[in-house]
Amino acid sequence: MPGVSEPRPQQPVAVFDSGVGGMTVLHELLVSLPTEDYLYLGDTARFPYGDRTQEQLRAFSVEIAEYLLAQGAKLLVVACNAASSAALGTLERHLAARGGEVDVIGVVAAATQLAVAGSRSGRIGLLATPATVASGAYERAVRAADPHVHLESVPCADLAPIIQSGFPFDIEVVETVREYCAPLRAAQVDTVVLGCTHYPLVAPMLQRILGRDVTLVTSGAGVARSVERALAARGLENPQSEEGSYRFRCTGEASSFKALGTRFLQMPLGEVAQVELGAARAAA
Ligand code: DGL
Repeated sequence: MPGVSEPRPQQPVAVFDSGVGGMTVLHELLVSLPTEDYLYLGDTARFPYGDRTQEQLRAFSVEIAEYLLAQGAKLLVVACNAASSAALGTLERHLAARGGEVDVIGVVAAATQLAVAGSRSGRIGLLATPATVASGAYERAVRAADPHVHLESVPCADLAPIIQSGFPFDIEVVETVREYCAPLRAAQVDTVVLGCTHYPLVAPMLQRILGRDVTLVTSGAGVARSVERALAARGLENPQSEEGSYRFRCTGEASSFKALGTRFLQMPLGEVAQVELGAARAAA
């Protein structure tokens, strides 16, 4: 396997997700590290990842990582919870075999650390896709952080696709969210991890249904801090003093990605180009 040539500070930070949801993570990066350039890839041709197998998610993630490295990424952020849960270890090993010059950061550790540190009762909830819950990644991360903390996991089979197609949100979305919150209310959790990139978009509903005393935790801010530390450790912070650029790639159709992505990012998207990854082409 060829090594990656040593990354330079001027190269972009790459962020990938199954679709547009990872823009909730990208937004934190744009705010926290504004002088970096960003390249975002949404694998919309294979969305949703939430009902994929762990093997599929590992294969997709390695394929996307290779594409992003070829585009000159100096660091990879796996914004997708399903891909982070299934494939972070695989990606770490893959990048180590490629010379270990590029770090990869997922979303599970950041959200778990915040939740465990913030919970007073030691009872935490997780809302996530079936693939993320099935991976057991959050269970393992919580146990590693504090074995006395209880995690109540709720697989939300259709919530991400409903949010994605649900603008403007109607009563059906509220009822779906209410249903998924019921086990968390019964378990009397005081902290809930939003373990899917789409769920921050229904945070106002979640907060109302779960109650003001429940803290909602997302990974974005923690991921941004991890990215900042990883870049600093390698001397890879972009030296430019003005705002960096951000551009988008998707594996599905570009115009719908742009329309939906603008809603998730709440900023103009600018350049969006459709790309073909090998396996995505075969699955389409
Ligand atoms: N991006 C995925 C995640 O965070 C959610 C949507 C999907 O199922 O692909 O798990």
